[in-house]
Amino acid sequence: MAEKRIFSGIQPTGRKHLGNYIGAIRQYVEGQDRGEAIYCIVDLHAITVPQDSAELRERLYDTTAILIAAGLDPDRCILFRQSDIREHTELCWLLGTVTAWGDLNRMHQFKEKAEQQRELVSAGLFFYPVLQAADVLAYRATEVPVGDDQRQHIELMRDIAERFNARYGEQLVVPEGRYPEVGARIMNLQDPETRMSTTYGSEQGTVYILDPADAVRKKIRSAVTDSGTEVRRGPDKAGITNLIEVLSVVRDTPPDGLEREFKGQGYGDFKAAVAEAVVEYLGPVRERYEELRPDEAAIEDTLAAGAEKARAIAAGTLADVRRAIGIGAPG
Ligand code: TYM
Repeated sequence: MAEKRIFSGIQPTGRKHLGNYIGAIRQYVEGQDRGEAIYCIVDLHAITVPQDSAELRERLYDTTAILIAAGLDPDRCILFRQSDIREHTELCWLLGTVTAWGDLNRMHQFKEKAEQQRELVSAGLFFYPVLQAADVLAYRATEVPVGDDQRQHIELMRDIAERFNARYGEQLVVPEGRYPEVGARIMNLQDPETRMSTTYGSEQGTVYILDPADAVRKKIRSAVTDSGTEVRRGPDKAGITNLIEVLSVVRDTPPDGLEREFKGQGYGDFKAAVAEAVVEYLGPVRERYEELRPDEAAIEDTLAAGAEKARAIAAGTLADVRRAIGIGAPG
């Protein structure tokens, strides 16, 4: 079988949190050992809701530095900025012509984000999943590591690829989503029925990757749990279940092993253990980030080198796709 080609994208907005890290970034790092890994910082997705221009650039550098600090090695993966590769927007349009409007209209994330917009719900926000499909399909990627919240977008991109191939011949690869077994959906610590997210949910319940150790400790120690006493997973124990999943990932220990380990111990001790483990897990990332982030010229160089490699792949796909559709000069 051909080597896997892994692709994923991450938005340069807000502050990246523990959910992003556990659900996605951790898988990106590991992807470098499993195949050809391509990762994109999706600034064109970010502007589907209003952004301050200067801030957008800052957040793009933040996100790039976080990814490198987390273990992405620009010599072992392709790391680039979406807006550097114009093929994404061109393919987005072309794929839009084989995307059902009704399918876009059913996207949960569109509905959620649209509700939060006070002034304008942009057509770009509606088209967001088509651009996401273009990101992946331009590279003929086989695998897309993401968190659980992206399932509907992945299903849609598979449908789009299949519809395109049915109409124009086998041009595109139909990718598979890859969701972590544990930690695909990290919940807000103050509201464990809601996914941890930068755009909603309490700030106090969101652990940011760059939070200082004391802030991490405080947030985890004050996590909302239940009125019981047992450290185990259960449908009526969303808070504890979430903390068990977090600890399972950061300690690389199966959840049932942790349930045995903490049997008979109180929630206070358990939360303290989770807090220390997360502090230890994120500490080195934050330290490397502090070293990397000030050198914006070096970050730009890394992104430019990544863009060059990305462009070579995407341009090949676009040439095939244009030919198959019958647009542009023949040749
Ligand atoms: P973004 O930046 O919002 O999220 C980045 C990744 O983090 C995952 N994630 C979570 N995982 C577990 N628990 C959580 N609470 C949690 N919150 C977020 C997301 O699933 C995602 O994998 N639409 C994408 C960006 C994108 C993309 C792509 C992804 C654009 N083009 C192509 C894959 C392939 C997004 O949500 O980014």
